[in-house]
Amino acid sequence: MNTDILIIGGGVIGLAIARLCGRRGLGEVTLIERGRIGMEASHAAGGMLAVQAETEHGGGFLDFCTHSRNLYPELAESLREETGIDIQLEQSGTLFLSFSEDDVRKLTERYAWQTHNGLNVSLLSAAEVLSREPRINPTVKGGLFFPQDWQVENRRLIEALAASAVASGVKIIEGCEVESLIFENSAVTGAMTDSGRCFAKSVVLAAGSWSSMIPGFEMQSQIMPVKGEMIVYTPTTKLTDKVIYSERGYAIPRIDGRLLVGATSELVGFDKSTTDAAHAILKATATEIFPCLEHESIVDRWAGLRPFAGRPEPIITAVDSFGGLIVASGHYRNGVLLAPA
Ligand code: GLY
Repeated sequence: MNTDILIIGGGVIGLAIARLCGRRGLGEVTLIERGRIGMEASHAAGGMLAVQAETEHGGGFLDFCTHSRNLYPELAESLREETGIDIQLEQSGTLFLSFSEDDVRKLTERYAWQTHNGLNVSLLSAAEVLSREPRINPTVKGGLFFPQDWQVENRRLIEALAASAVASGVKIIEGCEVESLIFENSAVTGAMTDSGRCFAKSVVLAAGSWSSMIPGFEMQSQIMPVKGEMIVYTPTTKLTDKVIYSERGYAIPRIDGRLLVGATSELVGFDKSTTDAAHAILKATATEIFPCLEHESIVDRWAGLRPFAGRPEPIITAVDSFGGLIVASGHYRNGVLLAPA
């Protein structure tokens, strides 16, 4: 098979790249995915566009995250027009709460560096938090409100990106695993897959946690999986319309009434099993924020693998020493956030 652009990996990053290449008419675009489209980290994610809740200081990475977040309203509108799929961009904002003196100290530091960097953030007293969100634990000490930390329904985003990519002429092949890359005169010219050879003018590696399994690439960059588990409630009454963080995790209200609570962080290889230990940690995180969840059942749970390149920032570059392979991987906690950029 021959193509102009070969994209390896059908998660949110590979799909966003494929869609844009297709829409810009950059030639024939082929995306190959070892399993099914969007069924790994992109499926397990919470969909928070948590620029201010999940970055720790100002600088280039914060600016890149902010830029990508700002692209979401237009992306949501375009995807709805192109595919009829609403990715449920929810712009109610995010609350970050403190429940201990140590939490208060961290929150104060976060407020200081964010105001210093000109970010939109409000410091709330406990009374202000509770008047806005009466179901939150009354032992709350205070909070920060980030009006521009939004969320999307990541599973709809995957569906919409894939539909838009296909409508733009992208060929998506599922169940196709890369065994090695093909090099000619030191330049990468394609991939050997379990379905045969695919030659391309440009090859993009966007295989998330599996990127370092491409033979040879692990010598360039070690991208490892960091497991995150999530639990789900369907509370009998709606608890909030905002994403709520504490230092121990987060709660995400979905339009369909579910409340997702995440997430653990473990270096345990490619193990995606759910565990009783994680279940207990997440339940404690959930009930610290909303004590009424103590009496609610957990209706679903899952684990996913964040691709971690040893630093919060992803690797987005053409690797000259590896035949010009274009890499877009290691997005760690921010794949959904960074997909538009
Ligand atoms: N960005 C949320 C997480 O990785 O848990």
